[in-house]
Amino acid sequence: ALISMRQLLDHAAEHGYGVPAFNVNNLEQMRAIMEAADETDSPVIVQASAGARKYAGAPFLRHLILAAVEEFPHIPVVMHQDHGTSPAVCQRSIQLGFSSVMMDGSLKEDGKTPADYDYNVDVTRRTVEMAHACGVSVEGELGCLGSLETGMAGEEDGVGAEGKLDHDQLLTDPEEAADFVKATGVDALAIAIGTSHGAYKFTQPPTGDTLSIQRIKEIHERIPETHLVMHGSSSVPQEWLEVINEFGGAIPETYGVPVEEIVEGIRHGVRKVNIDTDLRLASTAAVRRFLAQNPAEFDPRKFLKVSTAAMKEVCKARYEAFGTAGQA
Ligand code: G3H
Ligand code: 13P
Ligand code: ZN
Repeated sequence: ALISMRQLLDHAAEHGYGVPAFNVNNLEQMRAIMEAADETDSPVIVQASAGARKYAGAPFLRHLILAAVEEFPHIPVVMHQDHGTSPAVCQRSIQLGFSSVMMDGSLKEDGKTPADYDYNVDVTRRTVEMAHACGVSVEGELGCLGSLETGMAGEEDGVGAEGKLDHDQLLTDPEEAADFVKATGVDALAIAIGTSHGAYKFTQPPTGDTLSIQRIKEIHERIPETHLVMHGSSSVPQEWLEVINEFGGAIPETYGVPVEEIVEGIRHGVRKVNIDTDLRLASTAAVRRFLAQNPAEFDPRKFLKVSTAAMKEVCKARYEAFGTAGQA
């Protein structure tokens, strides 16, 4: 059944688990997410970005998610709009039937320029008013997402601040977070604690302090009723990078957020964990390997099947690690 983000994350908070929120762009990702959820008995958050709407079209994405709800009626599914750049964008998603929207007012409408606090409060508060009247949940964002190591927001198209960010922009201020939640009424808050979007988060192998767990604790203590969201939470599995590079790819050395650090964040109030890049890497690795090993094959279903299987493996691993498994 389709449920709101608030319903799911309240349950997650009560039972102390986190929920991976996977981005969806196509049928293979949708199937991978649902089959993994079905096999592990996990509730689901699927999210559509502006890039996904551009690629697949909003009606196709909507029906893809509704088809998942129809085929797996026993699994709770949140249909979430990722990184809305204005109240108008969120309004269109609410009209389409999304049960949750993100109003990302940390950046201006161009999705690149860091916005000031008052602007963020204004657009987020307006979105909350509209969404709550329709039973739809809202995620806001405070702070600028960016790697604590590189100061960069990441290489995703569409979202992310331009240029190098200062250290204090990279960590959400706990007092400001408390004020923001009070002023806007958001259900969930994306915080800046050292993650960035895309595959190029860190140049060095992780040493256990990729994220500021301390900052997560301080924010959670100030706003215990608000569900914390971690964007840029791909772990960039080295196994998949090796497969990509073994079969013709050329991805430079790079590292993501270790799963154990995310699990530590979940212990301190993180409830929604956004993952897109890991499914992209798994899919590309599986397709590259399959086509290299089966050069005479030309039926796309053959290589898309291994793409689905690889993504499903990642989804299952995250459902199990985050404690989502068994909670549907
Ligand atoms: O928020 C970033 C997600 O990874 C979506 O990326 O806009 O390329 O679909 P995208
Ligand atoms: P990754 O690029 O780390 O997968 O993050 C995705 C994300 O935050 C989508 O909003
Ligand atoms: Zn994001």
